[in-house]
Amino acid sequence: MTTQHVVSVQDILAGYTPEVDILRGMTLHADQSEIVTLLGPNGCGKSTLLKAIAGYLIPHTGQVVLDGNDVTRIPVHEKIRHCSLGIVPQTDNVFTALSVRDNLLVGGHYLDNAQNARRIDALCELYPMLARKLRAPAASLSGGERQILALARALMPEPSILLLDEPSAGLSPKMLQEVFEAIVNVRDREQVTILMVEQNAMEALRISDRAYVLAMGKIALTGNAHDLMHDEQMRELYLGGQAG
Ligand SMILES: Nc1ncnc2c1ncn2[C@@H]1O[C@H](COP(=O)(O)OP(=O)(O)O)[C@@H](O)[C@H]1O
Ligand SMILES: [Mg+2]
Repeated sequence: MTTQHVVSVQDILAGYTPEVDILRGMTLHADQSEIVTLLGPNGCGKSTLLKAIAGYLIPHTGQVVLDGNDVTRIPVHEKIRHCSLGIVPQTDNVFTALSVRDNLLVGGHYLDNAQNARRIDALCELYPMLARKLRAPAASLSGGERQILALARALMPEPSILLLDEPSAGLSPKMLQEVFEAIVNVRDREQVTILMVEQNAMEALRISDRAYVLAMGKIALTGNAHDLMHDEQMRELYLGGQAG
């Protein structure tokens, strides 16, 4: 077992029923302050992998090690509270009826008032849009602004690890750039380690350090982002709208 990685997934078999493994033996890692992207066609298990790391789903076998601790069997709410994990799910990730500030306070559920105030200040400085719209209902935000709010909400407890499931889904190219910039900014500012699932492969690789390409519950290809961007196999798979 490797313990020096911030995130280490060892030989995971996992699925939604005991009989069927969706993840069929996966090993991967992420180091401090890395942006690591998970790519692959629809249904190949990217979200399932994030769910297994987060603890929404307990793997049938294998290990999830975060910050050197084996957390394979620890459920998600305890990981968020005690293991310094932040999660931005694939859809419906802001409470539209609540204000921007109240969305952030949901993320700061386990913090005291002083910590909440400190984190809201820090995140408003990092993302000035939040400062301008703090009292506005989240329903009034654009798609890109909602993604940044969802990101900021997950960042409230100052996690060391962030799991992002398709942060650019449904966004215009301009908003995609803003959201990706927000991701890079927090990595630079808070040294958070980021595991990100993305469909926009080439755009995601541009901001990533490394990537894993999943196929049918296994890792088909891995390497540093720059090399993968120029990899013939990758370009065939992902250029020309074949990323679906
Ligand atoms: N809650 C669930 N219950 C049963 N099967 C699921 C569930 N969620 C996803 N699956 C199945 O698991 C496989 C992988 O899904 P998923 O991890 O969501 O893929 P991806 O995120 O790569 O598109 C798919 O075959 C999907 O139908
Ligand atoms: Mg998914």
